[in-house]
Amino acid sequence: MLVLSPLRAQIHWTLVEPGVWKGVVGTPEEYSLLSVSGKMPLKEGFTRLPVVTLPALADEITATLNDGKTYITIPLQRQEQLYGFGLNFKTVHQRGRILNLHVDHYGGKDDGRTHAPVPFYVSSCGYGILINSARYLTVYAGSGSRKDSPDAPVAKDRNTDKTWSANPYSDAVSVLVPAPGVEIYLFAGPQPMDVVRRYNLFCGGGTLPPRWGLGFTHRTPSLYTADQVKQEAEEFERRGYPLDFIGLEPGWQSKSYPCTFEWDKQRFPQPKAFVDEMKKRGIRINLWTNPYVSPESDIYEQMFPLSGSHTVWCGIVPDLAHEKGRRLWMDKLDKEHVGIGVSGYKVDEVDGYDRWLWPDVAIFPSGVSAEQMRQTYGLWVQRTTTDLYHQRNQRTYGLVRASNAGASAYPYVIYNDYYSHPDFITALINSGFCGVLWTPEVRGSKTAEEWLRRFQTVVFSPMAMLNAWASGTKPWSFPEVAEQVKEYALLRMRMIPYWYTEFARYHFDGIPPFRAMNLEAGFSPSGVEPVELQNTNANLETNPYLEAVSKEIKDQYMAGEYLLIAPLFAGQTQRKVVLPKGNWYDFYTGKYVGNGETITVSPGLDRIPVFVKDGAIIPLMEPLLHAPTAGQKMNLEIRHYGKADGFYRFYDDDGETYDYERGEYTWRDIRVTRDRKGRLKGSISKAERGKPDNIGTVNWRFMTQE
Ligand code: GAL
Repeated sequence: MLVLSPLRAQIHWTLVEPGVWKGVVGTPEEYSLLSVSGKMPLKEGFTRLPVVTLPALADEITATLNDGKTYITIPLQRQEQLYGFGLNFKTVHQRGRILNLHVDHYGGKDDGRTHAPVPFYVSSCGYGILINSARYLTVYAGSGSRKDSPDAPVAKDRNTDKTWSANPYSDAVSVLVPAPGVEIYLFAGPQPMDVVRRYNLFCGGGTLPPRWGLGFTHRTPSLYTADQVKQEAEEFERRGYPLDFIGLEPGWQSKSYPCTFEWDKQRFPQPKAFVDEMKKRGIRINLWTNPYVSPESDIYEQMFPLSGSHTVWCGIVPDLAHEKGRRLWMDKLDKEHVGIGVSGYKVDEVDGYDRWLWPDVAIFPSGVSAEQMRQTYGLWVQRTTTDLYHQRNQRTYGLVRASNAGASAYPYVIYNDYYSHPDFITALINSGFCGVLWTPEVRGSKTAEEWLRRFQTVVFSPMAMLNAWASGTKPWSFPEVAEQVKEYALLRMRMIPYWYTEFARYHFDGIPPFRAMNLEAGFSPSGVEPVELQNTNANLETNPYLEAVSKEIKDQYMAGEYLLIAPLFAGQTQRKVVLPKGNWYDFYTGKYVGNGETITVSPGLDRIPVFVKDGAIIPLMEPLLHAPTAGQKMNLEIRHYGKADGFYRFYDDDGETYDYERGEYTWRDIRVTRDRKGRLKGSISKAERGKPDNIGTVNWRFMTQE
């Protein structure tokens, strides 16, 4: 019998934003990742990106509707590398992987099950693809081979041919979408960084946290009382450790797992007075919760018909896709917490662990399937809680354990229970490819060395956090390194002006503040001249140079415009660092370290290697114990590194409200040039009239002395 194969069709592309095209296949489902995210593109940001035309690749992307599902094929070139596909922990290069993108707690393998399985990838050839589906997607990121491929691998005889490979070459990414249609978005470059920028801008622009969010945060043990929390804060102060917000873990609630969302009357008899008092000390309160409603919560009865068919730890699951379910949950949080001054949330357990979540056969009153709910619940909790703060014109910054595409603009940082320090750094690198933030949180350590090494990295991440919910650790828990930990916690504070500006660039320009070396101009994994990746027919199997190209760098990363961070892990005394092209300098001394080469460093336990680009300008402030509040002046030490002239746009606004959305912000030009005698001198442009101006005194430090 002759079976007709289903039609493979080209996709019709429509320009939706500069350099972003939408392709519609079949009948896409209305409920999608972007519809749940609900964010509009930050149009203004696209004006600062290169003008581009539809990539030629667009014509070669095909889709097939078969078996009630959609199959997508996107061709690959020989030397092309792929990045992204969500928050992976072990790998940066994704070509060749098979992934089942499925929201889950990370289980130790990069198989697609992760906290943010974002169906977006970036190609080293300078384009990106987003599959806007809230389904479990199967991705063959260059592993299957079509029999009619123009670039099909040649069959070899395993008996006799030593070059036989179990993984023959594949020339395409294939994606299986279990729905009869889907929207695909194609993002142009030309560079991979431009692709990431377009993606983040398309999702509303990166989040801009409040200034205090970029300070230091500590989560106290689960059953701490209000008095114990106060004492803890006092001790931080007395010992001179910075602290901007404290996270309360499950014990603040009268019942948890499932949750009442109500304060425990014994441990926290006067919640509002407690929150106010802490605020007066300069410390905000963040609350842990999971969304599962305890039978003892006063919203239980009303929520019952607005929740899913199955329970989680015997709590009902609010249907957040249902307008009324959402409203009820939000009103409860608003009344109990946001309304009394709580600064934000840590929304836990929205990712899975399978048996700790609703099963895929659960039914929700909104009609959204259990599968779609699982893929989007993390987005829903971010969206609803952010809305509560937005309507009060107050920024928040919190934690969440699940996310997905469309989350760039949400002020949430992902964390988990896994604890491999090296893998935490790889996750930080990968977060920059998919519009999410990640914290390599510190919890406990076996040794003082490990403790310090972990601290040294968490201060160069989106959230500098000690999560002592179970360990009861304090920053000074290892007396041998307590001073070094303090030094780095204070460096974090000193760097707030830099971090804040870099987050503003995330917001307005879509540039991830923490990101892979692969997004850096002049970077090549082997430390040599980057190869021209396009238009090459070199054979992966025979060209030895490709080995260098495909070497994966997953233990060093960029932090903001100028800094390269190269962590050491417990047990290491030296490491290799791959420097992109251009002159690089040591952050601490200003000394030249290299250019486009691989160097070996042995910095000693007290230092995490940090390198700075030539001409870099790093604005620091004094080492305050709390981030500056709205209107508080920051006295700056502006550092310049290297020999090149420097130019930096310094961002300023009130640091706490959403007034920046209405233009209440300013960029100040900082320049370092040489005078006639060749001496470096710095200048900073005046504050714009009527705009926020939080700069106090300015001191210049030229770090590289000839
Ligand atoms: C875990 C979470 C931890 C901590 C704990 C409290 O699920 O990942 O960080 O919050 O719950 O029970």
